[in-house]
Amino acid sequence: MQLIKTVAGLKKELENKRKENMSIGFVPTMGALHNGHIELVKRSVTENDISVVSIFVNPTQFNDKNDLLKYPRMLDADCKLLEKTGNTFVFAPDVEEIYPEPDTRQFDFGCLACVMEGQFRPGHFNGVAQVVSRLFEIVEPDRAYFGEKDFQQSVIIREMVKQLNFNIQIVACQIVREADGLAMSSRNLRLNEVQRKNAANIFRILNESRNKKDSHSVQAVKLLVENELNLIPELKVEYFDIVDAHTLQSINNWEETGAPIGCIAVFAGDVRLIDNIKYFSPSTK
Ligand code: PAF
Repeated sequence: MQLIKTVAGLKKELENKRKENMSIGFVPTMGALHNGHIELVKRSVTENDISVVSIFVNPTQFNDKNDLLKYPRMLDADCKLLEKTGNTFVFAPDVEEIYPEPDTRQFDFGCLACVMEGQFRPGHFNGVAQVVSRLFEIVEPDRAYFGEKDFQQSVIIREMVKQLNFNIQIVACQIVREADGLAMSSRNLRLNEVQRKNAANIFRILNESRNKKDSHSVQAVKLLVENELNLIPELKVEYFDIVDAHTLQSINNWEETGAPIGCIAVFAGDVRLIDNIKYFSPSTK
């Protein structure tokens, strides 16, 4: 593990690796690393000669200033974790390195970005596209790894790669969960004891809803999930939608798509958690 803080420093190291024909894997993160991130890094290390892990809390993707301020930052602990995962460069730049000038680019992802996270966090995906495209230009990886907890993000990143003609393979990796089912997230660190315990119900109820697919309408499943979760102390559903995994548009009946996926955002106290559940087996997607 080698920590690098500047764009010039990283580019120089990677240029040397490229000269040796080494393949480059890239795992973009905002730090506060957990096992979900570590699984992405391990996969990148297995599939590439050298891996870059970026740790950068990107201000342009936060529509809520408080969320940005409270986002956990722990570079030393992150580096310690990454020391154990093999051949990596850790790229931890300051804001000025990534944005020497304000990034005013406006992306158009059409309806992929106007629903769910895009609807409730206006400008979020524009900020994600700004930072990820900038990081892709710096790292020029062969493969980039994203977790499927942020399912909508991974669909939008694929679209961005198409629009900007990046020659990068996007690898979406399965959600990593705690023993009680809660999807791993840096935000889990901010949950108090009761919220943490109750947040496990998000996956439990989503998972149970898969059994209702054959006997209940899409609408009924949506209502059941929302109502059950809202009954649990400290939890409040912001949205739960069942959409087509490719277009991300709501479906009205199960027959509309071979790839229905339920995407949810839930507040546990003031901590916003997201998760999703596939109502199809990925091989039939
Ligand atoms: O998923 C995240 O952690 C962030 O959105 C990403 C991709 C690192 C961009 O800041």
